[in-house]
Amino acid sequence: MKVWDIYTRLWHWLLAGGIFFQWLSGEVLDDQMQNHALMGYSLLGMMIFRLCWGFVGPESIRFSRFVPSWSSLTGYLSKTDKAIYVSHNPLGALAVVAFIGLITLQALSGFFMEDEIFFTGPLYNWLSESTTSLIAEIHEIAFAGIMLLIAIHIIAVLYHRFKHEPFIVKAMVTGNKPLTNAFQPLSNMQLHLRAWLCIGVSITIIWLMVNYLPGWLGIEADYY
Ligand code: HEM
Ligand code: HEM
Repeated sequence: MKVWDIYTRLWHWLLAGGIFFQWLSGEVLDDQMQNHALMGYSLLGMMIFRLCWGFVGPESIRFSRFVPSWSSLTGYLSKTDKAIYVSHNPLGALAVVAFIGLITLQALSGFFMEDEIFFTGPLYNWLSESTTSLIAEIHEIAFAGIMLLIAIHIIAVLYHRFKHEPFIVKAMVTGNKPLTNAFQPLSNMQLHLRAWLCIGVSITIIWLMVNYLPGWLGIEADYY
């Protein structure tokens, strides 16, 4: 059955590519701050999309269907013979929530940064210098957290891939898992309308945050 719709799959691989680009543009390449910021805004938009999608998207990616209760999490951890889940398993679900939280924190902290050369984030002048430099540290620490999570994520995915779910990586490409369940699929029309609603909401929020929020907060616009 179809578990991951086309928007979720595109989202996943764009996210992986986007994080890689952020590392490259933030740590390796010179003169890429403008692109780093643009990709950072896009990644924040993608987090808003995923939040929205987690409420109105297909059942398999709704938070209400996969975010575990404490008892299902401890139950899962205590069993040696793990069940196969159609959507995320309880531990994987925690990783999804951690990814969304950390990447949101990372992108938001970027708004308060400058690169000591020519780039100033939209909210750089808003808070005191000491708070802003603390936020710059968060930008560095949160990235270390993201890298750690990615390493755990890839090890966990490969473990399941070789242990008892040989289809999981392919499923993030084709969307299909050879499993059946009771998830109600959305019609094509519902899927596209809802996805574009979420895309519209994300673009609007990011556009307002980058272009208008500094003005609303009374910040001198010396960025760009
Ligand atoms: C920067 C790198 C990556 C990030 C940030 C990332 C992030 C994520 C996130 C957030 C999800 C949850 C999807 C959702 O519910 O919307 C996910 C799922 C998944 N990812 Fe990644 N991922 C990365 C790299 C990879 C790579 C390299 C692979 C392949 C080896 C992979 C394979 C998967 C699979 C198979 C799932 C579904 C897991 C399941 O069936 O429960 N990911 N990833
Ligand atoms: C999820 C999104 C983002 C990721 C993964 C990311 C990642 C990184 C990394 C790895 C660095 C290098 C380490 C450091 O100096 O802290 C960095 C630096 C930086 N980032 Fe980001 N970033 C993101 C979003 C943003 C955004 C939205 C902005 C601005 C609006 C931004 C502005 C900066 C600046 C100004 C630097 C400092 C560069 C320097 O010191 O030369 N980042 N980022």
